[in-house]
Amino acid sequence: MSLQDRLTELRDQGLADIKSADVLNKVNQIKVDLLGKKGPITEVLRGMRDLTPEERPKVGAYANEIRDHLQNAIDHRRSELEEAAVNAQLAAEKLDVTLPGRTVPQGQPHVITQIITELEDLFIGMGYEIEDGDEVEEDYYNFERLNLPKDHPARDMQDTFYITKEVLLRTQTSADQPRALESHDFSKGPLKVLTPGRVYRRDTDDATHSHQFHQIEGLVVDKHITMADLKGTLTLVANTLFGDQFDVRLRPSYFPFTEPSVEADVTCFNCNGKGCAVCKQTGWIEVLGAGMVHPRVLEMSGIDPEVYGGFAFGLGPDRFAMLKYGVDDIRNFYLNDVRFLSQFYKKG
Ligand code: PHE
Repeated sequence: MSLQDRLTELRDQGLADIKSADVLNKVNQIKVDLLGKKGPITEVLRGMRDLTPEERPKVGAYANEIRDHLQNAIDHRRSELEEAAVNAQLAAEKLDVTLPGRTVPQGQPHVITQIITELEDLFIGMGYEIEDGDEVEEDYYNFERLNLPKDHPARDMQDTFYITKEVLLRTQTSADQPRALESHDFSKGPLKVLTPGRVYRRDTDDATHSHQFHQIEGLVVDKHITMADLKGTLTLVANTLFGDQFDVRLRPSYFPFTEPSVEADVTCFNCNGKGCAVCKQTGWIEVLGAGMVHPRVLEMSGIDPEVYGGFAFGLGPDRFAMLKYGVDDIRNFYLNDVRFLSQFYKKG
């Protein structure tokens, strides 16, 4: 075979290989194999030594032509493959800006927390301090300092979970009353404190009872506090939570740590006071216990009941939430079912 024919053969085979190379690495390898120092074209050029002086320039020119041809084909194929790679990447990373966005679900405070926060805001506006009591409390503060000595029959209504004989899960946020009283410095002004939190009782759970629920305790002690201050405060609470059309009624009641004691009713949300099944035809719904702080409670905290007096109330945000939203089973608040809880999400 003449050198020309050999070159033609190398060209045709080379072009076919370049065309079928489908990745850059293959094209690079073809270049090394074909045009490199140990490649067949170089070998052909070396064989030119044996040619006649007339033939040599012809074959030399043809060899150069073929080398250029192959080099061009390689460059062309390379850029083709590079472009294809970029296009494939662009297609894979394409963003469709017209697709509707995906909503990231966002939680909100629990409905009970919402009510507590709303009331905290109201009371902060009236100059109260917000304090957190302890859920694990001493029998001493939960009962004894509230005028409920060990054998007091009113303890029966508030059986609870005991950690030890003297330490328990508090049954009422009233346990924070003696703690606030004994630490307050009256030379700095009146005591006005709000203590929201969880409380526990050994209750059999049903639609209106849970062994764990919330209370918000309010306590005001100063020199000239009267029951009118208590009623005014409670009316404000009812109006803030439920609206102005609601009225508050105080009924005589009994708590060992207040004297006199009252229970407060709010106009029934369902019938506006006309009487219905929800309020058992009375037109009123009971929402809290309250009263004037018992002189013994003040005394036990080292405060002179002849000089100071005040009121206390304990309201149930769970109850308030049930009333406000017409929820008929308190247990719903503690099941953590998002379908239930998301009904109370605030818009915006
Ligand atoms: N602690 C009482 C209860 O749980 C409510 C209450 C609080 C009553 C403050 C009077 C004063 O039933």
